[in-house]
Amino acid sequence: MHRCMLRFVEQLRQSSVRCMSSGVGRRRALRSAFPVLDLPLQPIHLHVYEANLRNSNACLKMYTEFREKVRKGGGENAVARHTQRNRKLLVRDRLRLLLDDEDFLELSPFAGLGLPYGDIPSAGCLTGIGRINDLWCVFIANDATVKGGTAYPITVKKQLRAQEIAIQNRLPCVYLVDSGGAFLPLQSEIFPDKNQGGRTFYNEAIMSAMKIPQVAVVCGSCTAGGAYVPTMAEEAVMVHRIGTIFLGGPPLVKAATGEQVSPEDLGGARLHSEVSGCVDHFAWEEKEAFDYTRNIISTLNFHLPEEEEDTLKRRTEEEPLYSSEELLGLAPQSYSYSLDVKMIINRLTDGSRFQEFKARYGTTLVTGFAKIHGHLVGIVANNGMLSYEAALKGSHFVQLCDQRDVPLVFLQNTAPAAAMTLSTSQAEINSNRLKAQGSMMSAVACASVPKITVVIGGCHGADSYAMCGRAFDPNFLFLWPNARVSVTAPGHAGSLLVPDDELEEEQQKQEEKLNKRLKEESSAFFSSGRMWDDGVILPQDTRKVLRDALNIIKQQHYQLSTEKLQSAPLRM
Ligand code: COA
Repeated sequence: MHRCMLRFVEQLRQSSVRCMSSGVGRRRALRSAFPVLDLPLQPIHLHVYEANLRNSNACLKMYTEFREKVRKGGGENAVARHTQRNRKLLVRDRLRLLLDDEDFLELSPFAGLGLPYGDIPSAGCLTGIGRINDLWCVFIANDATVKGGTAYPITVKKQLRAQEIAIQNRLPCVYLVDSGGAFLPLQSEIFPDKNQGGRTFYNEAIMSAMKIPQVAVVCGSCTAGGAYVPTMAEEAVMVHRIGTIFLGGPPLVKAATGEQVSPEDLGGARLHSEVSGCVDHFAWEEKEAFDYTRNIISTLNFHLPEEEEDTLKRRTEEEPLYSSEELLGLAPQSYSYSLDVKMIINRLTDGSRFQEFKARYGTTLVTGFAKIHGHLVGIVANNGMLSYEAALKGSHFVQLCDQRDVPLVFLQNTAPAAAMTLSTSQAEINSNRLKAQGSMMSAVACASVPKITVVIGGCHGADSYAMCGRAFDPNFLFLWPNARVSVTAPGHAGSLLVPDDELEEEQQKQEEKLNKRLKEESSAFFSSGRMWDDGVILPQDTRKVLRDALNIIKQQHYQLSTEKLQSAPLRM
């Protein structure tokens, strides 16, 4: 009975897939029955599990504190000024009106915390990917409670990363602009260079040319640089009495010409929708502006899968056999507290199923196929040091996934320090390993399939490059709160110093100092504050984040307006 039902559901699914006009929709997925990885927790794991759990709970506490801190934006006074005096909605309330629901993927929420120039909550700008009329869109929304929404260097970095994600995954962009332009005391770090302020506008133009839609809502000031965001967008909405667009505000006009002019007359919604034509839609109030924006998004030419098909797909998905909460005790507090990574894999995959590849070769790297909420993925997971054999296996598997168009998920937990070379035989091992690692790096760099990296433990040294670290351009890179990111793990600073017997005491002090610094600078929150990643995610949320990321990546296949681009003959 059960099997009949499943067959029936599958037939229905296939027939609705066939109805879709997109080429991708017409394809028929092969069935899979990957073996179940049955790895429950054993008494032998208890000691390590409990230590990891204690560490994860401490990290969770920090995570909650940071989250509360950024939710407060620029603080009570700034919030009161924003809502009462300026009569504007807070940025999260705006997102509530713009998006279908609150279930969005926020990017780098801790960016801007603990920087040399202070704490800049959310880097003064919320970015993420949320659904508007079912369509995943990148949003870039200034938080004007943080120094008038001005752009710090980290704000620019955050905006550019969100745009990069939009480019890589072909996602429409919606900008909620409420910004005083550059944060002037740090102008030299914002204005002149390639990947600074001007790049935002360049990216808007490039994305439009790539048929990646650009929509802006002016719901505050758009002064100086901020003025170009709506003017370069394809379609812009502006809110009466709240939105202004000008290169220099009324005080500047007064200083230059002596003329007294109101912000509304100088660059308000009426002026820009009736006279300059800089914006396309006039809204009396914010709610209306977000309704307009939602309507604009529904004019983008996408053909998403029918809802029934999605529901049927969800019904056939299996949950993992084990609770995701157990990941908290598996998240290693350090490399020596790492348990078999397959215990993490089978807590993330559908039905805890995993089709392992080369199970008996290069076992310090685990590779294989699995499904995550129905998406077929190739998993590459560290399970020890990346040996010569492990790196060769990694190259082979990554190329295999690339040939089959299967997205890759890297679970990174790399060795704390490079292997010491104290003998000729060790030197030979190291140089062979070096060549194999180089091959794996090439395979990862050249693989054209989507890549998602989750740092589940350590992100150290060259192994982290082969495991698709930030420099290897994964579509998304997330960290667990227990993760450590540094060239060498804390406690291993000795590997960076050349031993010298005469300077033993001096060196010991240096080593201690360096280890202390490594400890401070390698925490996941330190990394995320500087945007070396796309955010810290909780281990128990990983399956959901991966599902969202895979759905987001897949959406580009449903954009009808690119079909013309793809089928057009190449002009040489
Ligand atoms: N650089 C540095 N700090 C700035 C700033 C800028 N460009 N613009 C505003 N700020 C700061 C203010 O000093 C104030 O700091 P405080 O809270 O420590 O006192 C905070 O941001 C909020 O500004 P405030 O003017 O009190 O708020 P507001 O809501 O009334 O007005 C703006 C916000 C952005 C409209 C207004 O501050 C403004 O017009 N700023 C100048 C914009 C400009 O000329 N930019 C040119 C950049 S090239």
